[in-house]
Amino acid sequence: MQVVVLESYDALSVVAAAMVTDLVRVKPDAALGLPTGATPEGFYRALITTGVSLERARLFNLDEYRGLPRAHPQSYYQYMRTHLFDHVPISPGSVEIPDGMAPDPEVECRRYEAAIRAAGGLDVVVLGLGLNGHIGFNEPGTPWDARTRPVALDRVTRSANARFFGSLGQVPQEALTMGIGTILEARQILLLASGSGKAEIVKRTVEGTPSVAVPATALQGHPNVTVLLDREAAAALS
Ligand code: F6R
Repeated sequence: MQVVVLESYDALSVVAAAMVTDLVRVKPDAALGLPTGATPEGFYRALITTGVSLERARLFNLDEYRGLPRAHPQSYYQYMRTHLFDHVPISPGSVEIPDGMAPDPEVECRRYEAAIRAAGGLDVVVLGLGLNGHIGFNEPGTPWDARTRPVALDRVTRSANARFFGSLGQVPQEALTMGIGTILEARQILLLASGSGKAEIVKRTVEGTPSVAVPATALQGHPNVTVLLDREAAAALS
């Protein structure tokens, strides 16, 4: 893992955006795995500022809540519209987000995996980091060969995301997520973490013994991972 510590959240966001735009300039039809959450908001702002066109890129979101219609304000589909799709040229036909309302989620997840395979695999996956070490919604205990599938959200994850919903009771119990195995097949991985609240889990991710108890430690075995941190998130690293 290459660990890069930037002086601020804005700097981290700009570097992440530059890495993705560099890739898209070389390969305009790149397949990109994209995160949601608070951490990548600056990355999307910076990406928009570069003026990059994603018209030929294939966009695959990491995850979606189960049971939220696309129109729900907290669906990841709406998040992507707000933070990216409404601001850069994209082809709507090249956007893939797992359908949280699919009547058969297993079938939907198999469709998703097939779509990634049909795109030739992911060129880059951008990840945030959960407080419990999750990547996508692969919670502690997830096997590292897991594929895209329906999952139950961990209590830590639901509590952390209650801030977006107003109350814990409104946070969905389940999601559809790209698997750790799916993520590890990406040719390049960028892991973003910001703020002092992430310092401890960043240390366990980067310096800890790889274990299914901390899903992000799976990234230690990938040959092309860049971890972009601001000073606060890097504070516990030795
Ligand atoms: C979101 C996702 C999650 C988040 C993680 C961190 O698509 O896959 O793994 O990246 O929960 O979220 P924030 O950035 O809100 O701390």
